[in-house]
Amino acid sequence: MKESAPDLRVGLTFDDVLLVPKFSDLKSRKDADTSTLFSRGIQLSVPIVSANMDTVTESAMAIALARLGGIGVIHRFLSIEEQVSEVLKVKRSEGVVIEDPMTLGPDRPVREALAVIRERDIGGIVIVGSGRKVLGLLTRRDITLEDDLDRKVKEVMTPRSKLITAPKGVSMEEAKRLLHANKIEKLPLLDRRGGLAGLVTSKDIMKRKQFPSATKDAKGRLRVAAAVGVKGDHMERSRKLLDAGADALVVDIAHGHSAYAIETLKEIKKDFGAVEVVAGNVATAKGALDLIRAGADAVKVGVGSGSICVTRVVTGSGVPQLTAIIDSAAGAAESGVPIIGDGGVRVPGDVTKALAAGASSVMIGSLFAGTEESPGPTILREGVRYKLTRGMASLAATVDRKVRETKATGRGEDELIGEIIEESVPEGVEGLIPYKGKVDEVVKQLVGGLRSGMSYSGAHSLSELRKRSEFMRITSAGYKESLPHDIRRVV
Ligand code: XMP
Repeated sequence: MKESAPDLRVGLTFDDVLLVPKFSDLKSRKDADTSTLFSRGIQLSVPIVSANMDTVTESAMAIALARLGGIGVIHRFLSIEEQVSEVLKVKRSEGVVIEDPMTLGPDRPVREALAVIRERDIGGIVIVGSGRKVLGLLTRRDITLEDDLDRKVKEVMTPRSKLITAPKGVSMEEAKRLLHANKIEKLPLLDRRGGLAGLVTSKDIMKRKQFPSATKDAKGRLRVAAAVGVKGDHMERSRKLLDAGADALVVDIAHGHSAYAIETLKEIKKDFGAVEVVAGNVATAKGALDLIRAGADAVKVGVGSGSICVTRVVTGSGVPQLTAIIDSAAGAAESGVPIIGDGGVRVPGDVTKALAAGASSVMIGSLFAGTEESPGPTILREGVRYKLTRGMASLAATVDRKVRETKATGRGEDELIGEIIEESVPEGVEGLIPYKGKVDEVVKQLVGGLRSGMSYSGAHSLSELRKRSEFMRITSAGYKESLPHDIRRVV
């Protein structure tokens, strides 16, 4: 037995510290440049990432985040086909040219076209024959009032003879002119043989103006990342997600400083080459370094920091998030690999603190779970609207996942659920979160707070913020003073 208490390090989190104000020559919050790296090869104009949780990120959230200059990570608690379809929805949502637009054969029923249009939330479908020869265009307007859903699409589409098209490789200026002059919304692009080579839409051209800081790939499509696990179908899943155009894979397990994570990382890098791979979660310098040595292009940091986590309570393991970021960033410093601070962001000031501590971006879970774009319906309780958020290691999420995985084997659901409940040691909880409207309002608050925070630190860029920042530990009295006090608050 040890005779004296060991020297214990102190772990700190966001509420334990404040950033000491510094001389600032920033004239406006707009002078604060929030651009950063998500991973080695993916740049963001705002350092905000939405979490790979099933109550947070599917295509609607990923589209909204990418338009605002961040990025979303599609969760992996879906079948491979479902996750691929979410990635495709993001990649097809807008682009300079949609290279692979939705198509349908001329003899398909209107019913099918309507289902595709609704499912993919698109304005129209190009009708093609053999060799992808363009035969016509079917738009939402052509069929929404159609009573006979068994009619063939060729009977209701705009036929090729009346269609305005342009050759493949047309300039954006000319495409815009054609759309405008002909008062049309969609311009199919044709190759020399009349085959479909792409689609330009007026909606996409407008979006380019509306969202100038959007996170886009070289083809002008919104960027999206997708999570994969470390067991079972993870390699097949990775391949199909990359084929669908995912810009980065996120190897995500609760304890990322593990042989499993390192092997998976190496396997993905070996099989798929120059793909961007984010790995985590870790909470130490050594954890970050080991993942970087295995090939990680970004490291996700946070063990037990999330709002729905009970990992620290259940396992006794974890590191308060500010210390986890500081330590992991120190481990990653020499390599220049970015750190993603994952979990625990409750207020805008936490974003500034995480970035000042060395994170290049923050991943947000429950704060976004209450928004319009998160999966799932709103729930009304005593006149107040809520949405559901749950840890991915909560009992409910575990039951859902295992039932889905085992369904294919034909086992009875009841028997299975009983077994799962008996065996499960949940490390997450579920709960309701007040409905907050559109996610852009939440992002606006977070980024607005960050810009102001940068200004208080006299930082024009996030790298300056990291260099100039000075943290001060505060007492509980200091924390109390930081909150509104001694008034009866009305707003
Ligand atoms: P916030 O605080 O933004 O955190 O809601 C989101 C992050 O929490 C992690 N996460 C979990 N951690 N048990 C855990 O210990 C869970 O069930 C769980 N589910 C999510 C995850 O890193 C996420 O990004």
